[in-house]
Amino acid sequence: MSRIPLIAGNWKMYKTGPEAIETATQLVRLCTDVQDMDIMIAPTMLSLPLVAQSVQASNIKLGSQNLYFEKEGAFTGEVSAAMIKAAGAQYAIIGHSERRQFFGDTDALVNKKIRAALSCGLKPILCIGETEEQRDAGKTFLILDKQVSDGLKGVVLDELTDLVLAYEPVWAIGTGKTADTLQVDEVHQYLRSLLENLFSKTFADSVRILYGGSVKPANVADLMGIKDVDGALVGGASLDADTFFNIINYNS
Ligand code: PGA
Repeated sequence: MSRIPLIAGNWKMYKTGPEAIETATQLVRLCTDVQDMDIMIAPTMLSLPLVAQSVQASNIKLGSQNLYFEKEGAFTGEVSAAMIKAAGAQYAIIGHSERRQFFGDTDALVNKKIRAALSCGLKPILCIGETEEQRDAGKTFLILDKQVSDGLKGVVLDELTDLVLAYEPVWAIGTGKTADTLQVDEVHQYLRSLLENLFSKTFADSVRILYGGSVKPANVADLMGIKDVDGALVGGASLDADTFFNIINYNS
């Protein structure tokens, strides 16, 4: 089963509108000749419609970093899946560890957000990952199992075609520490077999599983060389267009 790699940039709470336009415009120029790869950037909500203009008619797709699960209503400060879709996004990052850590995104809330994304035709990137304490306590697989099972609870296979999974060990995010290739290989294989048990082998074989956590030009080729790694979710190293392009272009 061939899975087109996805390299996704999470810009977090960085860049004003003009700054986001500038980086996106540089990236469009750098990536014109990139083929056989999906590229996505996730600016802040505020910059989504602006960046949508910059990447229009290019091979760069847009994503949001979050969404709220309700369709509309009195939910001050929140943005719905339909609004994100209408702004030009195709993807939505859901359950990022910073959301879980700082904004109370539980597995149950993540599940509602996944369903909201799917119901609007947004491709959810479900982020999962263990903390350092959980890994040290030998609970990595237990935690990942719960995050995947609860995050996808009640969702039927037919609705899930566009799901992307992102394994991001919390201890590797923004720390400069990357999981070693053996650790990544072991977890990605585990996740694919988990999806097979929960859904089906055909589905499990078709899902893209990204690695995230201190991905940079120097380590991306090794990570992408792992059989079950189908792309990367990049934070810090996606903020600069040249650096992010060096990650995208890791094969050349
Ligand atoms: P990082 O972030 O690449 O800066 O470690 C990854 C992420 O948060 O998705």
